[in-house]
Amino acid sequence: MSDASTAAPADRTSSELDGRVALVTGGSRGIGKAICLALSARGAAIAVNYASNESAAREVCEQIAAAGGKAIAVGFDVSDPEAVDAGVKQVVAELGGLHILVNNAGISIDALLMRAKDEDWQRTVDVNLKGAFACSRACARHLLKARTAGRIINVSSVVGEQGNAGQAMYAASKAGLIGLTKSLAREFAGRGVTVNAVTPGFIETDMTDAALQGDARTALADSIPLKRIGRPEEVAACVAFLAEDGAAYVTGNVLRVNGGLYI
Ligand SMILES: NC(=O)c1ccc[n+]([C@@H]2O[C@H](COP(=O)([O-])OP(=O)(O)OC[C@H]3O[C@@H](n4cnc5c(N)ncnc54)[C@H](OP(=O)(O)O)[C@@H]3O)[C@@H](O)[C@H]2O)c1
Repeated sequence: MSDASTAAPADRTSSELDGRVALVTGGSRGIGKAICLALSARGAAIAVNYASNESAAREVCEQIAAAGGKAIAVGFDVSDPEAVDAGVKQVVAELGGLHILVNNAGISIDALLMRAKDEDWQRTVDVNLKGAFACSRACARHLLKARTAGRIINVSSVVGEQGNAGQAMYAASKAGLIGLTKSLAREFAGRGVTVNAVTPGFIETDMTDAALQGDARTALADSIPLKRIGRPEEVAACVAFLAEDGAAYVTGNVLRVNGGLYI
């Protein structure tokens, strides 16, 4: 069995999370990858979850190891509760505990309501909402044991707060995630465990790649008060803040990372 306290990235930004273990769902790419790197740079040992892209998850682990940190890749579909339970057991067995859960894995299937299919609704809700529910439940015992170091951080979306035409399924799942966040914040508060959400706006990743090309990109950037698309690292910095001891009195919160798109 490995010891999380040996994690000590050479390029660390702080030692705030020394000895802590973080599971980041969807850590293989985009925002999740940036979160893995940010938490590792603060000293946490990282379980990098992925759905199918094992090589990308292993690359994240190698990047963390090259910086002197510790990470393992753990493949499971967050929408499959049995697979989630097995994955969480693996994380605890290999990294020696679990203090921080970041429910980041998500998909976006866009369609106007009249063209939306039942199976697309089901898959969106299964991954984005049931996934966070299943992961939170599987991790709960370990997070409660971590007491004031325990954290759940859910990656919702600006779309869950303000809605978006053509994204009803995605928006509903992300709004549901905010309800889950607030309820679990109340449920876990007695043990000092905090539960918060971040709501990114438009962030440069594979998910938004198609929408962020050419004139559409310029128009989109113009509609954002800070006049630019966000970077995964900017979301990761907010997640890292919520994971640190300095945020121990912040719970049930929704932290907007959207360049002022929704205020
Ligand atoms: N990009 C944005 O502008 C934006 C804005 C607001 C909110 N968000 C939210 O931020 C989160 C990350 O988005 P992103 O833009 O970084 O997405 P992305 O680049 O498409 O990456 C998605 C990640 O989720 C994983 N994943 C997908 N389905 C999964 C499943 N069923 N089980 C486990 N992992 C799964 C993927 O794993 P594989 O690599 O194995 O496929 C990948 O690591 C999502 O929840 C998204 O809704 C994004």
